[in-house]
Amino acid sequence: MNKKITIAIDGFSSTGKSTLAKQLAKALGYVYVDTGAMYRAITLYAMEHGFIVDEHIDTEGLIKRLPEISLQFLFNPTLGYAEIYLNEHNVEHKIRSIEVSNQVSRIAEISQVRAMLVNQQQHMGENKGVVMDGRDIGTVVFPNAELKLFMTASPETRAERRFKELQEKGHKATYDEVLKNVQERDYIDTHRKDSPLKKADDAVEIDNSGLTIGEQYQKVLDMARAALQL
Ligand code: DC
Repeated sequence: MNKKITIAIDGFSSTGKSTLAKQLAKALGYVYVDTGAMYRAITLYAMEHGFIVDEHIDTEGLIKRLPEISLQFLFNPTLGYAEIYLNEHNVEHKIRSIEVSNQVSRIAEISQVRAMLVNQQQHMGENKGVVMDGRDIGTVVFPNAELKLFMTASPETRAERRFKELQEKGHKATYDEVLKNVQERDYIDTHRKDSPLKKADDAVEIDNSGLTIGEQYQKVLDMARAALQL
């Protein structure tokens, strides 16, 4: 089949967006783009270059340095998906730490950061054949995407998932810290001025609290196949 579509997956943190997006991309032979990784990489850059000290963010300083930040996704055949590189360094592991998670929503509020990343994301998806996950993909990055999904699940279910994931990857954090982080990010992501997280009118909402990963995948793969027939 030659027809290619764009699949936009938005939703709250730790709703399993990336697991689903990776599965779909693999099944369809599409490119998977984790846009959260891009916001996380900018946050890591800001932390490592002294633009975030305790609660204070030097927004102006960071904005001036944005042109020096290069982000790249390179496919890792062993893992079966692309990993993110920040100025030529693989930061896939570092960007998942609780320290980065605690700051990333505040960096994602900065309009200049969003403009730069939205531009790069539109470029990556210009030939379609992409599955992109994030917060504003169906509303801002690809408002004409053929298939839009909006994922939700309770904060406790999500914190439990993220906590297990962090433990498996060797990051240190308690369940309570993770739950607090999930709730804080929900608040900031849905209340920010620029491109707040919200369901696009034409997105299909999926509450996966009660669905297994396999059930959810099958449901969405059927939707993608239906969209490809149109
Ligand atoms: O998907 P994630 O949890 O890795 O995303 C990290 C943060 O980045 C999230 O709290 C909000 C922000 N983000 C965003 O504002 N827009 C996107 N398209 C993706 C992520």
